[in-house]
Amino acid sequence: MPFVGRKRELHQLAEVLSRPPVVVLLEGEAGVGKTRLLHELHWPPLTIGRCHPMRFPYGPVVEALRDASPPRDLNPITGALRPLLPEVAHLLPPAPPPLADRQVERHRLFRAVLSLLGSLRPITLVVEDVHWVDPDTRELLAFLARCLPAAVNLVLTYRAEDLSHPVAEMLAHLPPHIDHAEIALAPLDPGETAELAEQLLPHPGDLWPLSRGVPSAIEQLARMLAEGRPPGTPPALRDAVLLRLASVPLAARMLVQAAAVLGEPATARTLAALAGVPPERSERALAEAVRRGLLVESAPGRYDLRQPLARQAVRDSITPAARRRLHRHLDAPAPPQGTLSPREEQVVRLAAGGLTNREIAESLVLSPRTVEVHVANALRKLGLTSRRQLRTT
Ligand SMILES: Nc1ncnc2c1ncn2[C@@H]1O[C@H](COP(=O)(O)OP(=O)(O)O)[C@@H](O)[C@H]1O
Ligand SMILES: [Mg+2]
Repeated sequence: MPFVGRKRELHQLAEVLSRPPVVVLLEGEAGVGKTRLLHELHWPPLTIGRCHPMRFPYGPVVEALRDASPPRDLNPITGALRPLLPEVAHLLPPAPPPLADRQVERHRLFRAVLSLLGSLRPITLVVEDVHWVDPDTRELLAFLARCLPAAVNLVLTYRAEDLSHPVAEMLAHLPPHIDHAEIALAPLDPGETAELAEQLLPHPGDLWPLSRGVPSAIEQLARMLAEGRPPGTPPALRDAVLLRLASVPLAARMLVQAAAVLGEPATARTLAALAGVPPERSERALAEAVRRGLLVESAPGRYDLRQPLARQAVRDSITPAARRRLHRHLDAPAPPQGTLSPREEQVVRLAAGGLTNREIAESLVLSPRTVEVHVANALRKLGLTSRRQLRTT
């Protein structure tokens, strides 16, 4: 598969990993290319474990070490890993006797992981998708990070928007001889998007507006086009957005739904008015929607969904029940088709929601005078005489 861009990030990653021991945090949204970037590395060797939404205790570390080929002269402490790693138990020393104190036993287990890793050097332990880390692995990783043996690196990948525990705090207590780096992967730029699209498909057209440079979205769009389907929201992206939407508090969800229906960057006040979220709750709800990556501040003070595809997914998902919870004018029957221009329709929806011309103007980045004209034209086309009648239209 083609690999596009990322020269700087790949160089930086290769450079820091060549000077172990180092802890690297690799952050980026779903599908942006964290895993792929790691697979483009040639040195040092990686051993990879992934965190899963099921959060099995020590799951990622077990996954990373179960195929290990350790040398023969292992420290006896590594025998403590026998029960966890049956696949390589025959290569490990005998298991030490159980200890009465659970915490003491845990410490022994942590030291055993450290010792086994040290025996595999040079090696980079990669723990993927740390936003799903289980509490035991989290503590083990914090321990490993502080005690990394020579020639061993630790790389953690994660999506900031799905993180419930700050990962960067792990870097705060590293001893001076352990270096660290934080690498954030942004989406591809429009040129790189075109380059990837052209490598996947002969005449892809411009995939930037729909994909916003997220490689997994580019791939999925290219697949849809290749199969002769119109480019729509890829199921994987839709599910990811809807899962996240379902996991935020109701007020935040309603703001996101309002933004999706509005379809343009809008002020917090407009979104709250559209969604019917009371002002005292809207600030927190907005902050949560932004923190979870559902909304972005696309211009100062204006919020929108991150990608057109995400917007479409949210729009399509608004059920009648959710619709009822939204402010009633989102539910209002659309004016007879073809009568209003799309702009007039937007203005009418906001006017019906009780916004003044000035507020509508601010929300849609129009002059108040233009809004006035749109409102007048829309009223005339709808056969109404006052904007108050819009509320019952
Ligand atoms: N720079 C790139 N060039 C080409 N394809 C890429 C690039 N980055 C990612 N991809 C592809 O996009 C998809 C998603 O990437 P992946 O690394 O799995 O994302 P993440 O781990 O951040 O969720 C994969 O199929 C991958 O091969
Ligand atoms: Mg990944």
